[in-house]
Amino acid sequence: MDVNQSTGTQSQAEALALRYGIGAEPAHGPWNDVIATLLSHRSVRGFLPDALPEGTLTTLVAAAQSASTSSNLQTWSVVAVTDPAKKAALAKIANNQKHIEQCPLFLVWLADVSRNTRLGVEEGVTLETMPHFESFLVAAIDAALAAQNATVAAESLGLSMVYIGALRNNPVEVGRLLELPPGAMGVFGMCVGYPLPTVTNEVKPRLPQSAILFHDRYDAAGEPAARAAYDERIAAFSRRHEMTQDTWTKRVIGRMGKIAAMSGRDKLVSILNGMGFPLR
Ligand SMILES: Cc1cc2nc3c(=O)[nH]c(=O)nc-3n(C[C@H](O)[C@H](O)[C@H](O)COP(=O)(O)O)c2cc1C
Repeated sequence: MDVNQSTGTQSQAEALALRYGIGAEPAHGPWNDVIATLLSHRSVRGFLPDALPEGTLTTLVAAAQSASTSSNLQTWSVVAVTDPAKKAALAKIANNQKHIEQCPLFLVWLADVSRNTRLGVEEGVTLETMPHFESFLVAAIDAALAAQNATVAAESLGLSMVYIGALRNNPVEVGRLLELPPGAMGVFGMCVGYPLPTVTNEVKPRLPQSAILFHDRYDAAGEPAARAAYDERIAAFSRRHEMTQDTWTKRVIGRMGKIAAMSGRDKLVSILNGMGFPLR
């Protein structure tokens, strides 16, 4: 099995082996092409400059708008960025991730309560729930569900993508660049395009299901063994990609162990307060 050749058409056995590692696959269940596409996902961080086929953006957005949305409030928006100068500025915010400039389409997904705030103003009604943390959470969840639908649509069309959470390094500057109103925040970006043939393209294994799937009650008893096995798989994955040969455990500690790893995002609450999200 060639780990770089995962496609939406491979067999269930191959797809599960790539996602979990040989020997760690869950039991087989129902299967179809949609599920095969989902299991073949991998982030891509190098893009050809080739333009996307006409109508791709509106198709991706239609897929995004087909996601469930809390109470049909539709508290999200998306800004499609193609202007090279804006992409360069956004890349700078995101620790100079080069793929933001490379990709033909960069989408900035917004948690956006501003439209419904405007509705309240136009109707002369105070929307009392707006300042509450719950309204921001609803908007951020809506944006994530929409974006993931766009991801699945893009990958089903043979496109590749990677999310860019690093936009949250500086939400105020993202807001300034994209002229966002108060109550709209770029929660993450997304590069979309055709992958460079030179980028490695392997499905990244996930934790075994025993670590994340519980029945009727939470049970972390098997976690140490599951984590040890997964550490080996991620270290091997890293070796194959000439990345630092860290285990998953080391990576979690590296990402979550020190405030410095947040690249300024530890100040998000006060930043959001200034962007029209009081978060009461
Ligand atoms: C909300 C979110 C933000 C992310 N931000 C970044 C990012 O800024 N840069 C990056 O290279 N990858 C980013 N990723 C991609 C993850 O690193 C990637 O999904 C994870 O390592 C699993 O790999 P896979 O997507 O190939 O399965 C992000 C993913 C998510 C869901």
